[in-house]
Amino acid sequence: MSVDRSRLHIALQRSGRLSDASKDLLREAGLRIEAGKNSLTARAGNFPADLMFVRDDDIPTFVSDGACEFGIVGQNVLEEFALGQAEPGFERVAELGFGRCSLKIAAPERLPYEGPRTLAGQRIATSYPRLLRRFLQDSGIDAEVVEMSGAVELAPRLEIASYICDLVSTGATLEANGLRAVDTVMESQSVLIRTLRPLDAGRAAIAEQLLSRLQGVLATKESKYIMLNAPSEALKGITDLLPGADAPTILPLHGRPGHFAVHAVCQESVFWETLQKLKDAGASAILVVPIEKMML
Ligand code: PRP
Ligand code: ZN
Repeated sequence: MSVDRSRLHIALQRSGRLSDASKDLLREAGLRIEAGKNSLTARAGNFPADLMFVRDDDIPTFVSDGACEFGIVGQNVLEEFALGQAEPGFERVAELGFGRCSLKIAAPERLPYEGPRTLAGQRIATSYPRLLRRFLQDSGIDAEVVEMSGAVELAPRLEIASYICDLVSTGATLEANGLRAVDTVMESQSVLIRTLRPLDAGRAAIAEQLLSRLQGVLATKESKYIMLNAPSEALKGITDLLPGADAPTILPLHGRPGHFAVHAVCQESVFWETLQKLKDAGASAILVVPIEKMML
């Protein structure tokens, strides 16, 4: 199959913690994902983009080489790749807020851990050798890094290494292998990346459309529309309390002189505490409603 250069190519994790949420995000941006002839690609039926389902470790390479214009990948995989590159071939566009996990040092229950110095002279197994080496270096520790491409949790039992450095999400894998997390190397979540290779005008325009939709989707996740009533003397205090809202709309209330309706898009989460503060500041009839779509 030859590559269609009039369409965008988005690299996604084939299977694993990011794959469903990545597809959901693209669907929320309006892409109708049609299954391809095989499970490795899919087309968007209503948008000029093709999805490529690949191993997460390959996503930074594909995007840097320009084989795919966009990719969704974990920061852990991305940073490990970036540490091995002289010049980055990709740009981080946005953190996506899903696939949160952390790269942790873990120890068998029987071994002590009293900070990074415990690792001095020890063997540590990992699939993230560059991130681990950086962590050890930052801590001033000399240890032996044992590279494995998977099943790192087995290393202590196989006596390949005493400690491991691996990704932890729920912690179930560590627990099942008699290991406990003892230190954090990095926190991770999914990110959208784009290639630094220049695009022709046609695909540059499609890329901008996709980005503006995705940024809209990400903005609506946090944003809420807030409506409330307030007497004029309370307006200043109330508008100062609205989280992440610039230029709220203020309208006179019919039949209630000196009273106003305040409408605003809050670009940050609105918590119960905020509502209580608004009420204490003189607001009444406070409504917080979700925003379905947004184009900034
Ligand atoms: C990671 C890690 C563990 C598992 C931990 O693998 O290597 O096996 O996830 O998750 P848990 O804390 O929820 O049990 P991942 O799924 O990222 O696969 P990969 O490294 O082979 O891509
Ligand atoms: Zn992987």
